[in-house]
Amino acid sequence: MLENKEILESIDVNGEPPTDETAKQYYYMVKAANYVEEESKEAGRKLTYFVQNFGCQMNARDAEKLSGVLKKIGYEEAFDENADFVIYNTCTVRENANLKVYGRLGYLNGVKKKNSHMKIGLCGCMMQEPEVVEKIKKSYRHVDLIFGTHNVFKLAELLVTMYESKRTVIDIWKDTDKIVEDLPMERKYKFKSGTNIMFGCNNFCSYCIVPYVRGRERSRNPKDIIREIEKLVGDGVVEVMLLGQNVNSYGKTLDEPMSFAELLQEVEKIEGLERIRFMTSHPKDLSDELIEVMANSKKICRHLHLPLQSGSSKILKDMNRRYDKEKYLALAKKIRNAIPDISLTTDIIIGFPGETEEDFQDTMDVVRQVEFDNAFTFIYSKRTGTPAAVMENQVPEDVAKDRFNRLLKEVQAIARKRAAVYENTVQEILVEETNEQDPEMVTGRMSNNMLVHFKGGADLIGTLQKVKLKECKGFYYLGEM
Ligand code: SAH
Ligand code: SF4
Ligand code: F3S
Repeated sequence: MLENKEILESIDVNGEPPTDETAKQYYYMVKAANYVEEESKEAGRKLTYFVQNFGCQMNARDAEKLSGVLKKIGYEEAFDENADFVIYNTCTVRENANLKVYGRLGYLNGVKKKNSHMKIGLCGCMMQEPEVVEKIKKSYRHVDLIFGTHNVFKLAELLVTMYESKRTVIDIWKDTDKIVEDLPMERKYKFKSGTNIMFGCNNFCSYCIVPYVRGRERSRNPKDIIREIEKLVGDGVVEVMLLGQNVNSYGKTLDEPMSFAELLQEVEKIEGLERIRFMTSHPKDLSDELIEVMANSKKICRHLHLPLQSGSSKILKDMNRRYDKEKYLALAKKIRNAIPDISLTTDIIIGFPGETEEDFQDTMDVVRQVEFDNAFTFIYSKRTGTPAAVMENQVPEDVAKDRFNRLLKEVQAIARKRAAVYENTVQEILVEETNEQDPEMVTGRMSNNMLVHFKGGADLIGTLQKVKLKECKGFYYLGEM
């Protein structure tokens, strides 16, 4: 990373911080590194960090940014909460995501009492909710640092403030139009990586908190995206996942607008890159151009995640999804016709306010007609501040649970049937890791995202292998090289 080195060499920590945001954060990294070194001497050992991530791929990518800065300033990675700096990167999309964080924070209080060097940081989507921050200030006073989703890039600067003040440091931004490039990142996998192509969301689906905690939609400059992927490929990455809450509206707000399909074509040209994935597609914005580009591509994976949320046109209207049952069905059909070997997966919410048995049957009907290869099913969770939270006719829990169970059964039966069609075919597998149960086996993924286990050593990790799929085990395969 030549640019970083140049920046680092030009930094004078005794002078004023630079005005360029990237350079400024490197300036604070140097300063923070001094504090970490001091404390490390005091402790008589290397200091360690642990980032626990909750929530979606977007958060996972942010966690890599946090790790990147922490490594750069001298912390070593730890793999559980017995660390000197623990950060929870939180999610608030459903109530149980929040409850998990409170539970673990309680436990951390005890851990901290045994380690005088320990610091605790909280960031991510939950922190964008003022009530959450109030609650933490009041009831979880052992937290040292709180920041949000818009200023993740500022971690080094916040750490310096934390070291210099003895109080809890809180810095939450309501929104931002800023995108800070070229900061360090510590990737979880050597051979695959996520890349943000956009941030935020403008869709305001009526149940969803994301637009409130992630701010307005903004796209990254295509040149920055391509440059980042080229660098990743130079570093050994063969699969990239383009990330955004609604990738189909990529580029609309750029000075020189560009469609998502056009961006994909640019990414496809990158030599050495083998696989391209993306998440998430909103059905209302999925273009014919995109279907065509996918059908003709050699690198775009045979997988499309297309959240349905509900099969009832009435519920979809109340959800503010801006498509109806017929439109979704027609779109799914068009995609399956154009790309026959594609795996279609989806998200479904059960128990949205006002959902009747008839509405639920519409959802079941779409599930049966489309035959999703997999579906993530959720029971509706009321998020304070969203329009759906104050809607009448909230569905009783037992009714929602019963529908949820019926849906799950249907979804799983269809997924099993869909998975079985690959038996005895030869597929290209990207090997991801040594098998957790059997160290003589490795685990990898097909282009359509299906997991395959087969005999092989760790030297295969990160390579593409032709594998014969011998036995379908429901949601995964056992194969042979
Ligand atoms: N941007 C993505 C989704 C991000 S949230 C999209 O538009 O598809 C991931 C999933 O969580 C959503 O697809 C939805 O199914 C679910 N979800 C969001 N809010 C929820 C809520 N209040 N209750 C239950 N599930 C919810
Ligand atoms: Fe939430 Fe809808 Fe935006 Fe997805 S598109 S993040 S569900 S508001
Ligand atoms: Fe959760 Fe935030 Fe992602 S609320 S799902 S981590 S955008």
